[in-house]
Amino acid sequence: MQLTGQNFVVLGAGQGIGENTVHALAQGGARVLCVDLDEGRASAVAKAARGIACVADISTRAGVEKIFATAKREFDGRLDGIVDVVGIGVGKTLNTLDDQSWQHQFDMVVGHAFLALQLGTPLLARGGSVVLVGSMAGEWPRGGTLLAYASAKAALHHLARSAAQELAPQGIRVNVVAPGLTRTPRLLDANDEAFWQAQAAEIPLSRAGTPADIANAILFLSSPMAAHITGVVLAVDGGANIGMLRPIAKSARAS
Ligand SMILES: NC(=O)c1ccc[n+]([C@@H]2O[C@H](COP(=O)([O-])OP(=O)(O)OC[C@H]3O[C@@H](n4cnc5c(N)ncnc54)[C@H](O)[C@@H]3O)[C@@H](O)[C@H]2O)c1
Repeated sequence: MQLTGQNFVVLGAGQGIGENTVHALAQGGARVLCVDLDEGRASAVAKAARGIACVADISTRAGVEKIFATAKREFDGRLDGIVDVVGIGVGKTLNTLDDQSWQHQFDMVVGHAFLALQLGTPLLARGGSVVLVGSMAGEWPRGGTLLAYASAKAALHHLARSAAQELAPQGIRVNVVAPGLTRTPRLLDANDEAFWQAQAAEIPLSRAGTPADIANAILFLSSPMAAHITGVVLAVDGGANIGMLRPIAKSARAS
C-alpha cells in the first residue's frame, strides 16, 4: 500500500466514504486534493489529512475543469490517482420522474465520472488509477424510488469498463468499488436502528458496511497491489450479492 510521493484527487471528500478514502490514501503516504461542494467539509478533511482543500461543484464542466487545473498546479502536473465518490439518488418512481429529475440523476452519478475521466486522465502521464464508487444497485434491478439511481449506476459501471479498455494502453487502470448497504452519515441520519438490524439479517456477514470498509477497497484498487487489475466492479457488500444460506427441502438434503 506504499503511496509515498503519489498525488491523488478525491471528489466528494467531505464526509463518509470520501473522508475515509482521503485518510486511507494519506496514511499510505499520498498527498490528496480534497474536493467538495461544502467549503467547511473540504477544509476540515484537508486539514486533518494534511491535504489540499478544493471547493468545486463536480456536476458542472467548469467545476471539474477547476479541479484538475488546481491539481495540475498543486502537484506540478504529476497526478497518480483519481477517486470519484459522489452519487446521490433523486428518489422518484417511474410515475413521478420528470425529464429534469431523470437528467439530474445521470448528472449526479455518471456525468461527473465522464468529466473526471476526460479532463483528469490526461494528467496521469505515468499511468495511474481511477476508482469510481458505484453501487450494487447498478448490478441488480431496482424499481421504486431507486429506479433512476440504479439505472445511472449501471451506466457508471459500464462507463468504467469501457474506459478501462480505452485507457489500458496508457497504463491507466479504471475500476469500480460497488458498496452494498453502508452506514454513511446521510443514511444514518435517515434511518433508525431497527432499520439497520432488519437489513443486517439479510446480509450473509450480518452487518451493513462502514465507510472504512469501502475506503479499504478503494485504497487497494488505487495502490500498486492492484497493478494488474482493471475494468472490475468490486462488490463490498458483506456477501449480499451471493444471498443468504436458506433451509432446503429434506429430500434435496439427502441427495
Ligand atoms: N450508503 C450506502 O448504503 C451506499 C450504497 C451504495 C453506494 N453508495 C455510494 O457511495 C457514495 C456516497 O458516499 P457517502 O454517502 O459517503 O457520500 P455523501 O452523499 O455524503 O457525499 C459525499 C460528499 O460529496 C459532496 N458533494 C455532494 N454533491 C457534490 C457536488 N455537486 N460537488 C462536489 N461535492 C459534492 C458532499 O458535500 C459530501 O461531503 C455514492 O456514490 C453512493 O451512491 C452508498
